[in-house]
Amino acid sequence: MTVLDHHLIRAGFRVPDLERSVEHAREILGVNVASDDGRRVSLALPGQEPCLILHAADTAEFDFMALHTTADNLAEVRRRLAAAGVEIDSAVELHGDALRVHAPNGVAVEIGVGEGHARNAAERDSGPVIGSLDHLSFAAQDPGAFRDFFVDLFGFRLSDSFLDQRHWLRCSPNHHTVAVFAGSNGIHHYAFETSDVRGLARLGDVLAARGQNFVWGPGRHGIGGNIFTYHLDPAGSILEVTSDMLQVESEEEWEIEVWSDAEKSGVLWGPLPPAGFRDMSTPVIAATESA
Ligand SMILES: [Fe+2]
Repeated sequence: MTVLDHHLIRAGFRVPDLERSVEHAREILGVNVASDDGRRVSLALPGQEPCLILHAADTAEFDFMALHTTADNLAEVRRRLAAAGVEIDSAVELHGDALRVHAPNGVAVEIGVGEGHARNAAERDSGPVIGSLDHLSFAAQDPGAFRDFFVDLFGFRLSDSFLDQRHWLRCSPNHHTVAVFAGSNGIHHYAFETSDVRGLARLGDVLAARGQNFVWGPGRHGIGGNIFTYHLDPAGSILEVTSDMLQVESEEEWEIEVWSDAEKSGVLWGPLPPAGFRDMSTPVIAATESA
């Protein structure tokens, strides 16, 4: 089936304390407020379109993810969705030629015509220099159905799996832009990229100054090969900052590996995850509320 490349450009969350979540994102990620109507704040890295949308709500929930692609790719995705009988909604976040559908775990996925972000490299006094939104790792009761949804309908490629329980999917050379773990439907973590391990040290320093610490890491994942840290944002969602993700330079030569070593697939070096880490997730907003 034809390979389709896309760019992950934006994610949205509902958060119980909008002010705290915005402050955290600004200090930790270096994003700026692009718009703020008191209930909805859009945040952008320097020189980019918004990458993170935060909505005030009673509880923390994942709202949507948005991809940009070419007009030809969008036409192909639309054709595949129609052929599969998937209900197609109007896009809420993206403008112009765009659509919204729901993945099997309830996640709202928008795709529209547009460019990817130019990688941010603007220096800051403290905190990591974040290049861009990197990937989203979801939890799904049926991870195979979630994988097939992105592969069959959106043209993603399976990069690697852990048994039949976790799958890492790419839509560009980046080893994974979307991943899925078996679990209750939701998002496990959202990830931003920094250029090197120095950025992770700067993140640790700024977290320490806030009285926070990592919940896991630093370490290097076996699957994807990326160096990672994870900490909790003010809404209790897991935020990963990562660097050195494996790049798949040749679609033809990439060989999918099905890992069975739970420890090495998760961490080649560094601490093991805390108990219960893989079972954590932020629920997905109910489809009827997300418009
Ligand atoms: Fe990740």
